[in-house]
Amino acid sequence: MKPFHIATSLFLLATLAACGDSGAPNGKADPALEESPAQAANNPADILAALPPEDQPYGLDVFTAKCVQCHGNLGLGIDNNPALTGLTRSAMQQKMLAYRAGKTMGPQTAVMAKAVAGLSEAEIAAVSIYAGE
Ligand code: HEC
Repeated sequence: MKPFHIATSLFLLATLAACGDSGAPNGKADPALEESPAQAANNPADILAALPPEDQPYGLDVFTAKCVQCHGNLGLGIDNNPALTGLTRSAMQQKMLAYRAGKTMGPQTAVMAKAVAGLSEAEIAAVSIYAGE
């Protein structure tokens, strides 16, 4: 009788260990993150979360200092400067990184490239969380 119990326990242990290896129940990552691995890796919230709290910039501060003069209160747009609507946080972050990297975006790319030139990744992440949807 005893050897049987030991064998059963070992079998159950092995089964549990095998289940533990597969990660999520269906073996897939979070579907929200699967859409675009590149964006998931640059998720603005993750970038801030990787920093100690005292080093995390506050999005409204960045927006007030560096963006509001052109994009207006709540990013509603002023004159030729577009309203910042309809962009997810990740999309806004990716656009700003592209402007900062010198990629040509719209007809007024140069204006934005200059505006984001001095921003850190963390400031871009913070302002994207504030101004993105
Ligand atoms: C000097 C004025 C100016 C400043 C400062 C400025 N922007 Fe812009 N922004 C623009 C203009 C003009 C465009 C359109 C650029 C183009 O044609 O590609 C733009 C485009 C953008 C876009 C792309 C919008 C879209 O729908 O594609 C985002 C996002 C953006 N700005 C965010 C910001 C943020 C966040 C800040 C602050 C860090 C900022 N901008 C600072 C003038 C400015």
